[in-house]
Amino acid sequence: MTIRVVCPGSFDPITMGHLDIIHRAARSFDEVVVAVVDNPNKRPLFPIEERLDLIEGETADLPNVRAERFRGLLVDFCRDRDIGIICKGLRAVSDFEYELQMAQMNQRIGGVETVFMSTSPEHSYLSSSLVKEVARLGGSIDGTMPDRVEMALRTRLAETSDEG
Ligand code: PNS
Repeated sequence: MTIRVVCPGSFDPITMGHLDIIHRAARSFDEVVVAVVDNPNKRPLFPIEERLDLIEGETADLPNVRAERFRGLLVDFCRDRDIGIICKGLRAVSDFEYELQMAQMNQRIGGVETVFMSTSPEHSYLSSSLVKEVARLGGSIDGTMPDRVEMALRTRLAETSDEG
């Protein structure tokens, strides 16, 4: 039996924390679909195509991983692709409350199970929003994301500061 899981998120942009979970999911399950939310009500820093492109670039060495966009409910995405498990990283207790709520809701409305992986300690303080803020304010974000993603972030921040 093929065990297929989804790693969902905004990935705006992908960080070392996300990659840690994706790599470990790829070792633990047969197939991993990285599902990138395309929420028309939110204004992410990176357009959906670029978020997907950055993920594809960083996971090209993992043959059982692919990235896809999704809109609407995650459980519908899972049903359409015959995915029974959501795989998520837990950084700290503070993540747990909301993650538990979502896991219970996804179980209830779609019968989809959630498995949590503990984020590696070296990445447990990381979030895309914090890294973006530090980069925007001129701090060092060394080691928080792959070089290509950091370059894309610096370019995007320069573009958006021109816009503002
Ligand atoms: O990286 P994020 O922003 O923490 O990811 C959150 C995400 C995309 C996993 C979550 O918001 C989600 O699953 N959205 C899809 C809409 C949905 O299914 N909502 C009901 C969740 S119980």
